[in-house]
Amino acid sequence: MSMRINGVETDAPPRPGQCLRTFLRDAGWFGVKKGCDTGDCGACTVHVDGTPVHSCLYPAFRAAGRNVTTIDGLADVDGLHPLQQRFIAAQGFQCGFCTPGMIMTAAALDQSRQADLADALKGNICRCSGYRAIADAIDDILPPDSTGGGICGAPLPAPASAAVVTGAARFTMDVAVDGLTHMKILRAPHAHARIRAIDTQAALAAPGVVAILTHADAPARLFSTARHQMATDDVDDTRILDDVVRFVGQRVAAVVAESEAAAEEACRRIVVAYEILPAVFDPEEAMRPGAPRVHDKDAATSRIADPSRNIVAMLSGEVGDSARGFAEADLIHEGTYRSQRLQHAHLETHGTIGWLEADGSLALRTSSQVPFLVRDAVADVLALDPARVRVTCGRVGGGFGAKQEMLTEDIVALAVLKTGRPVKLEFTRAEQFIATTCRHPVAVTVKLGARRDGTLTAIALRVVANAGAYGNHSPGILFHGCNEALILYRCPNKRAEGFSVYTNTLPSGAFRGYGLSQTIFAIESALDDLARTLGIDPFDLRRRNVIRPGDAMVSWSDHPHDVEMGSYGLDQCLNLVEAALAEDATPAPGGPDWAVGTGMAVAMIDTIPPRGHYSTSRITLAPDGGYALEVGTVEFGNGTSTVHVQIAADVLGTGPDRIRLIQGDTARPGHDTGAFGSTGIVVAGLATERAARALKERILACGAAHLGVPETACRLGPHGVEGGGTQASFAQIMAASGAALSATGHADGSPRSVAFNVHGFRVAVNRGTGELRILKSVHGADAGAVLNPLQCRGQVEGGVAQALGAAMSEHLRIGPDGAVVNPSFRAYLLPRLADLPRTQVLFADTFDRLGPFGAKSMSESPFNPVTPALANAIRDAAGIRLTEPPFSPDSIHAALEAAAQPD
Ligand code: FES
Repeated sequence: MSMRINGVETDAPPRPGQCLRTFLRDAGWFGVKKGCDTGDCGACTVHVDGTPVHSCLYPAFRAAGRNVTTIDGLADVDGLHPLQQRFIAAQGFQCGFCTPGMIMTAAALDQSRQADLADALKGNICRCSGYRAIADAIDDILPPDSTGGGICGAPLPAPASAAVVTGAARFTMDVAVDGLTHMKILRAPHAHARIRAIDTQAALAAPGVVAILTHADAPARLFSTARHQMATDDVDDTRILDDVVRFVGQRVAAVVAESEAAAEEACRRIVVAYEILPAVFDPEEAMRPGAPRVHDKDAATSRIADPSRNIVAMLSGEVGDSARGFAEADLIHEGTYRSQRLQHAHLETHGTIGWLEADGSLALRTSSQVPFLVRDAVADVLALDPARVRVTCGRVGGGFGAKQEMLTEDIVALAVLKTGRPVKLEFTRAEQFIATTCRHPVAVTVKLGARRDGTLTAIALRVVANAGAYGNHSPGILFHGCNEALILYRCPNKRAEGFSVYTNTLPSGAFRGYGLSQTIFAIESALDDLARTLGIDPFDLRRRNVIRPGDAMVSWSDHPHDVEMGSYGLDQCLNLVEAALAEDATPAPGGPDWAVGTGMAVAMIDTIPPRGHYSTSRITLAPDGGYALEVGTVEFGNGTSTVHVQIAADVLGTGPDRIRLIQGDTARPGHDTGAFGSTGIVVAGLATERAARALKERILACGAAHLGVPETACRLGPHGVEGGGTQASFAQIMAASGAALSATGHADGSPRSVAFNVHGFRVAVNRGTGELRILKSVHGADAGAVLNPLQCRGQVEGGVAQALGAAMSEHLRIGPDGAVVNPSFRAYLLPRLADLPRTQVLFADTFDRLGPFGAKSMSESPFNPVTPALANAIRDAAGIRLTEPPFSPDSIHAALEAAAQPD
C-alpha cells in the first residue's frame, strides 16, 4: 500500500486497525496532534485529497493511493500558507497544541468565508484562547494595536510563532526515541479496596511485555503529587503504587511493553484480588464519626490535619468580633453556594518519556509546569541524587494548574530504572478525566451583615472542599480560597472556618484560581442579593466596601504576610466595566418570554504563591551581538516566553530577534520553582530583568575599558558599545574581556503585589425554555503595566472562556459507585466557538512598583469573577438565584419552574 504524504511517496503498510493519526506520527509527522481518540477535539485534522478529516477516526488503509497533507506540509516553497501567516499576525494561539488542526480545518474552508465559522469549527476545540483570536486569524482581522511602541508594551508575536503554525514546534511526545517501550496502567475498578493479590503470570507471558510493576516494586516513601517550593506545604499520602486503592481509576499496576497494544493486552491479563472496603463520597458525611476512613496515616509524619475525621486540612480564625458585627447589622444575608467538579481539559494530555543517559543518569522529558520541582520529587521518592536526574520540557500543550502535579514522571522513572529501557507513558483523554485531578468541588456558606447604607459590618464563611482520595493541593486551595476573597472587603469583622476533606473520589488539585473561584462565587452572589435587598446598585455596593490603598490587608487572620499593594486599579476596573455595560450591546431577542438583565462581580488575587517562589535567569552575549537567554520557566500557552524576550531586549537595547530563548531544562541555568500562581512574568520575568541589567553593566564596563573612556559616557546598542565618539563591537569587547560575558539574575517572589478583575454581563433569559444568551461580556483587568497586549488579552479571554465553560456547561460527574461517568470531551460539554461570546477586555492603567517593568499577574485571575457575574445577571433578568453551576438551560428552566410554584 502506498500514499503520498506532504508530497512524499510512502509505501510503509499500516498496522492492522491503525488509524491515520498514529500512522502519520509513527512516520515522523509530529504536526499531527493527539488530543483525544474520539474525533472530538480536531487536533489531529489532516487533509485527504484536500478534504479535512479527523485522522484519529480515519483508518490508515483508506488513505491508500491518496494525497495526505498535514500541517507540516501546508506551507509551500513560496512560504507560509496565508492562514499560517494570519495565525501569526493575530496570534491565534496560546499553547498552540490545537493550532495545526485549526489551521488545517480553516485552510479547507471556502476562503470567501461564505461558510458559518462556528459551524465549520464545531469539530475543533481550543482550551486556551476563548476562540476570538482564532476567529480573527481566519477572518484576517489584525489586532488594532499591532504596530508601533517600545519593546516592553508592544504586541509582539510569540518567538515560537512560525514553529507553532507550521507544526514544527515540538511538544512533549513529538520526539522519536530509539528502542522506546510503552507503558499502560491498569486502574482500579473500585472506590475503596485493599489489594490482596496480583497475579501477573499470564500478563508477563503476553508477547512483547517487558516488565510489570506493582506495589511490591514501589518504594514505601509517601509523597504528594502536588508540587510546591516548600514540599511540606502538601501532605504525604501517596505511593507510586499502593496496596490500597482509594478511588476508581487509581493505579494498580503498570505494564511496560514493546507496543501500546501489547501493554494493553497485558493489562487485560492481570488478575487482581480485591478486598472491598467501605467508601465515602460526600465530605460532610466523611467528617462524621464512624465514617469510612480514607487514610490511616500518622498525622504528624504525613501532615494530614485529622486522619480520623478524613480532614486533610482545616482553618479557623477571626479578626474583629463577628458576633458584634452581625448584631450591629441592619440586614443579614446568608446562603450556601456550591461549585462543581471540573476538568482542566488542556489539549495535550499528561505524559512523560524517560531514559537512561550514557552515564547512567536518569532523563525525563515531560509535560510539566514545574520541571525543577519534579526533578527534586523524583529524586526524593526514588532515593536518587538530584544531580543525576535531568528533567526537560518541550513546548507544553496547556496546564491550568494540572501540570503542577507529578502524575506520570514518578512511575516512568521507576520503570526506566527497573528495565533500563526508554519508557513512554502518554495518558489517553479518558485517563485524563478519570485518573488525574480536578477542581475541588466546594460548598461555601456565606453570612453577610450590613448597615442600611450598604457598609458591611461582618462577613463569615464556612467552606467545605472535597479533596477526593489524595490531599494534593487541598491545604493550599483552602487557605488561598479564604484569603483574598476576604481581604478584598474592608469589613472590620471577619470569620472563617474551613475544611478540606478526603472522600473516595477522583483527587482534586490545583486549578486556575486555586480555590478563589469557589469562594468568590459565593461571596459575590451573596453581595448581589444584599445589594438588591438594600436597593443599592451592585457597583456602588462594591465601591463602598472594597479595599483601597492604605488599608490593611486582613482576611480571617491578621498574621503578618509579605503582600503589598504595589499598584491599585480596582476603581478603574469598576468604572470601565460599568461604562461598557451601559453602552449598546447585541439586541435582545424579541418576544414576551425573553427577559434581559445585567450582573457583575469582583475578584482580587495575590500575585505570587506565599512562602518562597524562586527563579533564575542567565543571559550570555554572543560575538555577533545576539544573546542566549536561559530561563527555567516553561511555555505552556501563558505567553511568558514572549515577555521574557521583550524584557531582555528592552534592557539590552537590541531587537527581540536577537534574543535566543532556552527554557525548561533542569540542567540549566539554576533553580526555578515553576510557572504557577501567575509567576511566569512577575517572578521569572524579574529574574530575567535583573540578569539583563547585570549583563548590560558588565558589557558597558568592558566596552568602556576597551575604548578608554568613562563608563558613564558609554551607551549599549544593538551593534556594540558607543562612547567618546567611537564604537567597540561585541566581538572586540568579548576578545578584550577574555571571558564569556554572561550574567545571572534571581528573584524570590517577595514582596507580593495584588491584582484585580471585574466582570460584567448583559444576558437574556427565556422564561419558557431556560435558554440563556449572553448579549455582552466585558472584563476589566488590573494587570499593572501590560507588557504584551496581545498575550495578556489572550490570557484574559482564555480565562473568561474557561470560566464560562464552568458556568454554563462543564461538570465532571461522579456516579453512585464513585466513578466518573462522563470521561470525554463530548460528554463533559467543553465549549466550542459557537458556545462562547466575544469578551471585551479593558485594562486599567496602572504601574506596579514591585513587578518587572510595572507588570503584575494576569493568567489565572480572570477566571474568578465570571461565574458569579453570570449568576447575578441571570438573577437580574429572570428573578432566580442559581447557587450551583453549570447554569444550563435545564437548570435555569427548573429554577424558573420552582420560582413559579406557590409557596
Ligand atoms: Fe488552543 Fe492551547 S492554543 S488548546
